[in-house]
Amino acid sequence: ADAADATLSPHKLAEPDLLNLFIDIRKALKCPEVDLEDIACYYFDGQGKVIRPIITVLMARALNQHVSQHHRLLRNQLEIAKVTEMIHTASLLHDDVLDMADIRRGKPSVTLRFGQRKSVMAGDYILAVASTLLARINNPQVTIVLAQVLADLVQGEFMQLGSKENENERFSHYLDKTFKKTASLIAHSCQAVGILGGADEQLQQVCFQYGRNVGIAFQLVDDVLDFVASANSMGKPASVDLKLGIATAPVLFACEKFPELNAMILRRFSEPGDVTFAFECVHRSDGLQQTKLLARKHCLEAIRVLDALAHSQEKMALIAITDKVLNRIR
Ligand code: FPP
Ligand code: MG
Ligand code: MG
Repeated sequence: ADAADATLSPHKLAEPDLLNLFIDIRKALKCPEVDLEDIACYYFDGQGKVIRPIITVLMARALNQHVSQHHRLLRNQLEIAKVTEMIHTASLLHDDVLDMADIRRGKPSVTLRFGQRKSVMAGDYILAVASTLLARINNPQVTIVLAQVLADLVQGEFMQLGSKENENERFSHYLDKTFKKTASLIAHSCQAVGILGGADEQLQQVCFQYGRNVGIAFQLVDDVLDFVASANSMGKPASVDLKLGIATAPVLFACEKFPELNAMILRRFSEPGDVTFAFECVHRSDGLQQTKLLARKHCLEAIRVLDALAHSQEKMALIAITDKVLNRIR
């Protein structure tokens, strides 16, 4: 059983490909401005989950096996794994400014340690260097696909700033936002390695849809964890969404049982007692279970689209990842 586990563990299977990921990223971020380099490298310390690079290289190998019966990883596909982690990290530096978050991955956030201005600029710098790596891949379609991610990230954050007046539109607005702020990066990274591996339009869609569904599930679980996890286990503050005025899936589901929540969502939990009331409602409703159920549906859909790919260890690992996404505790 141990041997079987080892071959199927997504983390173990991707590990050899990602051994130098942080070393290479830190090398790319080298610059004469030592403070800038240090701040930009701050989160490339091996403490993150590295879920995006893991998915990216596993998808690349599963796809290559399908298209050309070898599962070697192409050099440019590994570049995508790097660019993906860099875009993600840049977005965290900006996110912690927007959310005024003091802790990330169990240590002081960049914004707490170095201030907001440096956090914003270091995020910009990581993006700038990632753009160069992306351009060097020299594939316009891949560039377009990953540039779309940047636009989606910003749009997703903007969508989160407002609350929809119309109650019926709220859930689709939330899902749309969730795709943009979280799933777009994973979906488009999967598509990019597909393009580089020679996938046709239809296979690219398989890659994309796997990433999209896993990405949405990932964020749904994140939104559940915000209500149930402790700051300690997450390595970042918990119960922050409501305090930031953000109504995520658990609250939207809780509205069915507690319609009083609608007014609070509209005013973004800004009045005294709103946050506590909404928190209690979520725990007294089936909002958390419903959110998990929806995450599970997206994972099943992710597994279903993989049917199109030939059998490989990496494909099995991509299936196993959906379980990890659902049952993660940080
Ligand atoms: C974390 O969400 C943040 C994101 C997934 C995306 C943030 C995107 C931006 C700030 C847009 C600009 C960035 C770029 C790179 C163009 P969260 O706050 O819900 O999660 P957390 O609990 O980890 O902070
Ligand atoms: Mg945020
Ligand atoms: Mg945040």
